[in-house]
Amino acid sequence: MSRQLFVTTALPYANGKFHIGHIMEYIQADIWVRFQRMQGNQVNFVGADDAHGAPIMIAAEKAGVTPQQFVANIAAGRKEYLDGFQISFDNWSSTDSPENHELARQIYRDLKANDLIDVKTIEQFFDPEKNMFLPDRYIKGTCPKCGTQDQYGDNCENCGAVYAPTDLIKPYSALSGATPVLKSSEHFFFKLSDQRCVDFLQSWTQDGKLQPEVANKVKEWFSVRTNPDGSKSEGLGDWDISRDAPYFGIEIPDAPGKYFYVWLDAPVGYLASLKNLLEKRGENFEAYMAQDGLEQHHFIGKDIVTFHTLFWPAMLKFSGRKTPDKIHVHGFLTVNNGEKMSKSRGTGLDPLKYLSLGMNPEWLRYYLAAKLNAKNEDIDFNADDFMLRVNSDLVGKFVNIASRAAKFLPDGKLVASGEASGTKSADLLRLVADHFDQREYAKAMREVMTFADNVNSLFDAAAPWKLVKEGHVELAAEKSSEAIQRFRVMAACLKPVMPGVATAIEQFLQCDALNFTNAAIPLTVGHQVGVYQHLMQRVTPEQLDALFEAPAASEPEKLTPGGEALAPLISIDDFAKIDLRIAKIVNCEAVEGSVKLLRLTLDVGEGQTRNVFSGIASAYKPEDLIGKHTVMVANLAPRKMKFGISEGMVLAASHSDEKLQPGIYVLEPLPGAIPGMRVK
Ligand code: MSP
Ligand code: ZN
Repeated sequence: MSRQLFVTTALPYANGKFHIGHIMEYIQADIWVRFQRMQGNQVNFVGADDAHGAPIMIAAEKAGVTPQQFVANIAAGRKEYLDGFQISFDNWSSTDSPENHELARQIYRDLKANDLIDVKTIEQFFDPEKNMFLPDRYIKGTCPKCGTQDQYGDNCENCGAVYAPTDLIKPYSALSGATPVLKSSEHFFFKLSDQRCVDFLQSWTQDGKLQPEVANKVKEWFSVRTNPDGSKSEGLGDWDISRDAPYFGIEIPDAPGKYFYVWLDAPVGYLASLKNLLEKRGENFEAYMAQDGLEQHHFIGKDIVTFHTLFWPAMLKFSGRKTPDKIHVHGFLTVNNGEKMSKSRGTGLDPLKYLSLGMNPEWLRYYLAAKLNAKNEDIDFNADDFMLRVNSDLVGKFVNIASRAAKFLPDGKLVASGEASGTKSADLLRLVADHFDQREYAKAMREVMTFADNVNSLFDAAAPWKLVKEGHVELAAEKSSEAIQRFRVMAACLKPVMPGVATAIEQFLQCDALNFTNAAIPLTVGHQVGVYQHLMQRVTPEQLDALFEAPAASEPEKLTPGGEALAPLISIDDFAKIDLRIAKIVNCEAVEGSVKLLRLTLDVGEGQTRNVFSGIASAYKPEDLIGKHTVMVANLAPRKMKFGISEGMVLAASHSDEKLQPGIYVLEPLPGAIPGMRVK
């Protein structure tokens, strides 16, 4: 009987392009999905962008566009990757879709009706300049343990200490540099500590839906949990699911100015994308979800297990919905033994560069399949290993069988041949199918390659080229037919991994679309095979060198120079409104109580000096600037700051993402300019 499968991959944050870690997750899931489809199962495989949250809102602001525009730009780039690596999603949507707004709000209402929503007043850091509550990652300060400056609000990168943002010495907002103030606000909580949730989750997480190692890890969370300040508490804690405006997200019903925390509506996006797909097809979402035996599978990375094994199933269960059947957790992909890639940027292997170099996506799919198993172990992409596996296994062992054997078929027709010694074709198909279903791809690939070894050695031993010379044309045809029959069986086994090659093989063999059932039945005697055309190239060392060659430092960023989009056009009159003047820095000093600011005393040729605060303390020592000339905005309205009044602004250059391209560079005119000269 065919299975009904609803399959998802984690929804990537819409704050950047895909990196190779994302692609790995999609390839893993896609192989499984293609396998299930080959088995005749009905699959709906969906993804979506995770569009909400403070980081995206802030990135959009920096780029000078609305969050909606920002995520639309990211979404527009997705297809190139997904098509390029042959990921067969049935739908790609966004958590900012109308379906998701509606579903998330409905789930919340249902949870509330079930008495699982609480309101508590909490105190949080607030940025008085930006007028917003600061997420932990936007609060920085000096580590309370080791005294290292500029550490994040939740842990120290230097000594590893874990603490609450309120423990930081000299905290400051990473957005504005202002010192944050504590402010209280009402937050909504999902009552995960409710006994009903605890009882449900304790059994749900331990009854075979999770890999054993994941289930064991999850078990610990029912007895202890780590608080933000590093202390431990008993059992499951309630989950803070709201954020105050300004926030890019979904407004909470009957709570103006309150939004769902991004992780509340993100997994709902799985359902919303499915709903969007089904409605496009004229099918009914509720009926689909209600059908008996529907299996819901989520493929995710090991960093987001809590959300998928506690919050998500509980949200579904207690809003009266179907809960997931399996959570498939994978490890992280590293590149050339590199560090774990940064979530936002990735390192090393740029997926689009891979494609643009003409590298075959099926090489990568095969290579990853040869390494992936059902555990959540990390795997490494190693360039030498990649070349070896593709060239000697895939091309040398597998593809070559067809080119070697096709030559000896009389008029391209198969003759009668027995099943050779070694693993029987039917057994291979069964074994490999079982491995695919269990996500043991490495085992599956090993079985196929061992089988290929056997086919090759039998072919070598029979030496059809010699048989032909000796006049045994029929025996040569028989040995070659045998090899071709078994080649077809292997092609079926590799089809979930290499759909393109498999299709080319089906054309070459002029056979029906392969699956794990029909491949067990040999092609009939007299079957006409097509003309062999080369099925796959080898990887060259030059391609790998080019892939990992660092881009030239001077290579301009095409889309967003300096990390941000250009501001809208202005007229010369607009520009004339800004009065830029040469200023001499007559004095410069540190500002007590601020790690970001320097206090500049500027001579603009007015007969008196001006006081200007500038957020450049991370880049310059005060003494380095004294005596230098720079450019300032001289007609900026004076601004009252915590440390005094700032009477203008000096110009400095920086990349929008300081981590990507560190540094702040104050502008300096060429020699000869004197204070007061207008810059125009
Ligand atoms: N937006 C959340 C997920 C919401 S799901 C309702 C998120 N996004 S992410 O873009 O950071 O990560 C998306 C997926 O990519 C996650 O499953 C994550 O584990 C995976 N990976 C991110 N880096 C990875 C590697 N280096 N290797 C393998 N997978 C990686 O988390
Ligand atoms: Zn520290």
